[in-house]
Amino acid sequence: MSTNLLQKLVSIQNEFGGIEPSVIVSIANEYSVPVSEVRAIIDFYHFLSDKKNADYHFYFSNNIIDKMAHSDLLVLQLGERLNSIIQQDPSRVCLDETSCIGLADHAPAALVNGRPLPALNPQSIEEVAELVALGRPLDHWPAHLFQVRTRICRRSWLLNMSLPPGESLLSWQTKGSATILQELQASQLRGRGGAGFATALKWRSCEEQHSGEKYVICNADEGEPGTFKDRVMLSEHSDWLWEGMTLCAATVGASKGFLYLRAEYAYLLPQLETSLQVRRDTGWLGAALKERLGFEFDIQIVLGAGAYICGEESALLESLEGKRGIPRIRPPFPTISGYLRQPTVVNNVETFIHAAAIISKGSDSFLQLGTTQSKGTQLLSISGDCQRPGVYEYAFGETVEQILSDCGADEVQAVQIGGPSGRLLGPQSFHLTLGYEALGGSGSLMIFNHRRSLIEVVNNFTNFFAFESCGFCTPCRVGTALNQRMLTRLHLKQLRQHEIQLLEESVRLMQNSSHCGLGQSAGNSILNLLHDFPETVEQLLNTIGDDNEARLVQALQPAVQLRKS
Ligand SMILES: Cc1cc2nc3c(=O)[nH]c(=O)nc-3n(C[C@H](O)[C@H](O)[C@H](O)COP(=O)(O)O)c2cc1C
Ligand code: SF4
Repeated sequence: MSTNLLQKLVSIQNEFGGIEPSVIVSIANEYSVPVSEVRAIIDFYHFLSDKKNADYHFYFSNNIIDKMAHSDLLVLQLGERLNSIIQQDPSRVCLDETSCIGLADHAPAALVNGRPLPALNPQSIEEVAELVALGRPLDHWPAHLFQVRTRICRRSWLLNMSLPPGESLLSWQTKGSATILQELQASQLRGRGGAGFATALKWRSCEEQHSGEKYVICNADEGEPGTFKDRVMLSEHSDWLWEGMTLCAATVGASKGFLYLRAEYAYLLPQLETSLQVRRDTGWLGAALKERLGFEFDIQIVLGAGAYICGEESALLESLEGKRGIPRIRPPFPTISGYLRQPTVVNNVETFIHAAAIISKGSDSFLQLGTTQSKGTQLLSISGDCQRPGVYEYAFGETVEQILSDCGADEVQAVQIGGPSGRLLGPQSFHLTLGYEALGGSGSLMIFNHRRSLIEVVNNFTNFFAFESCGFCTPCRVGTALNQRMLTRLHLKQLRQHEIQLLEESVRLMQNSSHCGLGQSAGNSILNLLHDFPETVEQLLNTIGDDNEARLVQALQPAVQLRKS
């Protein structure tokens, strides 16, 4: 299948607001694939549709942080204000919702025709309703409605740095790939995309492959709810990212790079293209590199189409090849068989930036920060019940307690660290420290104070996984749906004590037998809720008729024993 089929569909969707059935047929002919294949791709991605979008298509973020900031009330308000228009002509307005759009530091937030509407409130909703009623094109809406502010609240080793274009590349030119790999290894840099894989090992494995074509891919899918640090890096320091990707290409011998950018960040595209062009014009990218450093490398930005699973690196590769983002069977790993089955490095935005910074400045100061197994600093996206949400840079080893104090969080009941696939921590664990020894490669912190309902939080996460499961393997497809049903019943105080065990068994089964990390981690917060917040769960259980049930269980004991023997 042609690698640009998905991009073709994305561009038609963006230009015409939908992909009509007749267009689907002509695309299938053009690409010599069955119509069913094109339809399957459209069905897979949330932002592709065979029906035309409304003139104003709103996607409200349904992350728990947005819900806590009353996004539901704002949707209602907008719906009421625009009700008569929608009744008259549904093709004019659609109020939809979607998984987290990467603006938890600006909650509640939405997208309208792909453009961000951050920090919404009743006044701005009123303004939006007025503009829609007048039929005003988005280009004529006041700029303040779309303004996403950069909130970097704490800077340390990385964010205090100045990193001139080409500095790490000149270092590569002087030292060569072998030394760069040694320096990277000495720095003990680990990937910042979640799994914490050693970056030098990954680059070395790719470098060792003998292949005519190698690829460098930056994973900017950032779909984990509550995470937005990559968005801030792309907005503020894209040149550092291009530097890191080019350094990687020089080291492993790649000539083509891709930035896989989530669809929700499409509004960053113009500024990213401009900064790439500056890089080419100043001789740090493209054909000019050949003259300057003796190798050629360029970067293409490719848009996703709305699918959390495409952040998983092998699903990302499938998506980049124009297909549905279904995770591959591994091994082989991407460094051996990646994009188009060629050796490929896939790294997170922050990882590439850290690599460039380490090679530019040396690893000594980096190594002085952090803990035994977790060197240097990491970026955290902090959101929820605190006075100062934003991006914070901390050395590994900092306690959760200190972080909560720094961002102005009081009366904290719980913290979700590393997004819904991470861990739900209660105050008894706030002494734990950032780093792979204790909390893993968590890049975000969502804060919940004592007024929040934790079952609502975990229910929200469970809905997210059920919606985002790609459906390829049974444990995850069925397990996420089952968890969703059980959590909803727990929320409604309908679940009984013995069903808690079934819920736990379902999560364990998913952990052990799901095909990829989504299914393996989808139940983490459920287990945390059951084990670390037993009083919360106890209060939610349906105990009506418990005595009768206990008597029945007792009466059935002999039969159970017989079955076991
Ligand atoms: C369901 C799922 C979603 C993921 N989403 C992302 C993502 O948005 N960004 C990212 O860098 N890594 C994500 N990852 C991890 C990637 O698979 C991969 O480990 C990472 O891109 C490697 O980069 P690193 O070594 O720099 O961390 C995800 C993993 C899973 C299982
Ligand atoms: S675990 Fe879930 S997301 Fe991963 S392959 Fe299976 S169904 Fe798809």
